[in-house]
Amino acid sequence: MIHEPQTPDPASEQSQMNSQRSLRHQTAISGAHHALDHAASPADCPHRPVFHTAAPAGWMNDPNGLIHFRGEFHLFYQHHPYSNDWGPMHWGHLASRDLVRWRHLPIALAPSEPYDRAQKGGGCYSGSAVDDDGVLTLIYTGHVDGAAQMEVQCVATSRDGVAFTKDPANPVIARPPVDGSADFRDPKVWRHGDHWYLVAGSCQGGRGNVLIFRSGDLRDWQYLGKGTESDGTQAAMWECPDLFPLGGVDALIVSLSLERTKTVVMTGAFDHATGRFDRRSWRDLDAGPDFYAAQTLLDPRGRRIVIGWMDSWKSTFPTKPRGWAGAMSIPRVLTLADDGQVLMSPLPELSALRGDPWSHGPQPIAGDHALDAPGGSCLELIADFDLAASTATSFGLRVRASASGDEQTVIRFDRATARLTVDLDRSGCGPRGIFGGEVSGVDRTLRLHLFIDRSSLELFANDGRLAITSRIYPAAASTSLSLFADGGTARLTRLDAWPLTSIWGT
Ligand code: FRU
Repeated sequence: MIHEPQTPDPASEQSQMNSQRSLRHQTAISGAHHALDHAASPADCPHRPVFHTAAPAGWMNDPNGLIHFRGEFHLFYQHHPYSNDWGPMHWGHLASRDLVRWRHLPIALAPSEPYDRAQKGGGCYSGSAVDDDGVLTLIYTGHVDGAAQMEVQCVATSRDGVAFTKDPANPVIARPPVDGSADFRDPKVWRHGDHWYLVAGSCQGGRGNVLIFRSGDLRDWQYLGKGTESDGTQAAMWECPDLFPLGGVDALIVSLSLERTKTVVMTGAFDHATGRFDRRSWRDLDAGPDFYAAQTLLDPRGRRIVIGWMDSWKSTFPTKPRGWAGAMSIPRVLTLADDGQVLMSPLPELSALRGDPWSHGPQPIAGDHALDAPGGSCLELIADFDLAASTATSFGLRVRASASGDEQTVIRFDRATARLTVDLDRSGCGPRGIFGGEVSGVDRTLRLHLFIDRSSLELFANDGRLAITSRIYPAAASTSLSLFADGGTARLTRLDAWPLTSIWGT
C-alpha cells in the first residue's frame, strides 16, 4: 500500500506547542507551591509585619504589575519561593478590594521557557500589567544567565486574573535597541491614544537611561528612542522606570543603586511622538534607605498610587534565618504641589486599620517626655508642632525604645536647617546610618505622620513634602515612645495615635 506523504498541519502543531508550553509553566508553578507548602511559617517571627504585604514565605523584592482589574487591585512581586535568598525569579501575587486588606493568590509566573529560564539567577524579572480589552496582560523581562546575560521582554495573559499563559509570540522584544545594552529590563506599559507605550530601564557608556517603545497590539514593538539618561553622575544603570502624567506635568520614576539605593522622581514633559522626556527636575522620592523599585497605578478615582519595595539591595535582611525576607511599603498617593514638587503621602483609606484612638493635648515639650500610647510596635501617629512658638534647636520622637534606652530610633527635626532625619544607629540588628532631608516650604507648622510596623518605620512630613522609609529590627520588647526637645521648648499642638490591625483577611 502506498502512503501519501503527510503535510504537517501548522494549526495543530501550534496548538501542541501551546499546550506543552502551558504544561511546562504549570509544572514550574506547582513546584514553587510545593516548596511554599513545605516552608516553615514565618508567622511567629517578631519582625513579621502586621500591616505591610510580604510573601507567604521565602524572598520578595520589587512590586510588579500593579493594576486595578475587574474590581480588584493586583500587586504582583518578585519572589523566590524556594528560599529566603534572591534566586530564580517568580511573580508572587496579592489581591485587594481596597488597597488596605490583602489576600494571597497563586504564583502568577514561574521560569519555564528558554527566554526566562533561570540557571544561576535569572527568571521572570520585573514588569507591569495592563487591561487589554478584558485580558489581564503582564509584560515582564525574561532574564537568562547563559554564556552571556540576555534580557528580553515577554508577555503573559489571563482572562480570570489568576492563571497566566505565556504568549506564543515571546520574546516580544528579543534584543536591546541601539541605545541599550545587555541590561535592558523592567518594562512599564501604558495606553495613550491608539497605542501602547513601553518604558524600559537600560544603560550605555556608564550612564543609566530609559528606552521608549510603541505598539498597536502589545506584541509588535517599534523603538522610538531614548527618553532621557544620566548626566554621568546619576548611576550607571536605571532600573524599574515608570512614566505617567501628574497634575499637568509628566513624571518619571527610576531606581538607582549609588552609595545607597534610591528611587528618584523627575518631572518634565514627555513627547509621545518622539519618545523624548524633557526633564526639568530631579529629586529623591523618599529620603530613607528602604524604598526601591517603586511602581505606580492609576486607581478608579484617578489617583496615582505608588508602592515600593520596603528594602534595599544594601540591607543585611536580618529576618532571613526566620524563613522570609522583603516587604512592601504602605500604598501612598502622589500629587503635584503648586510649586512643582511631587508629594507622597499615605493612602487615606489606611485609617480603616485604626484601633482605639489615643491623644495627647497641646503642651510645650522640654527635655524628654514619655508617652504611653498603645501599640508601640505597630501604630500610626500624627504629631503637629507650632514652629513659631518653639524655641528648641531640635526636637522629635524616640520610637521603638527599650526600657534602658540602649535601643531606640530617633526622629529629629533641626529648626535652623529644616532637616528631618531618622537615626538608625541604635535601632536593633539591622543596618545603621542617619537618613533624611530638608522639609521644603516649612512655615508655621511641622506635621509628622508616622507608621511603625514590627520591623519598619515610614515617616511623612507636612503632607508628603518629605518621606523617610526604613526597615528597623529592634527587640520585640522595645516599644517605648517619647517626645523630646533639645535647646529650648517645642510647642506640641496635637498628637493622635492609633494601634493598627492586620491587613490579612476580610
Ligand atoms: C530591581 C531589580 C530589577 C530586576 C529585579 C530582579 O530591584 O534589580 O531591575 O528586574 O530586581 O529581581
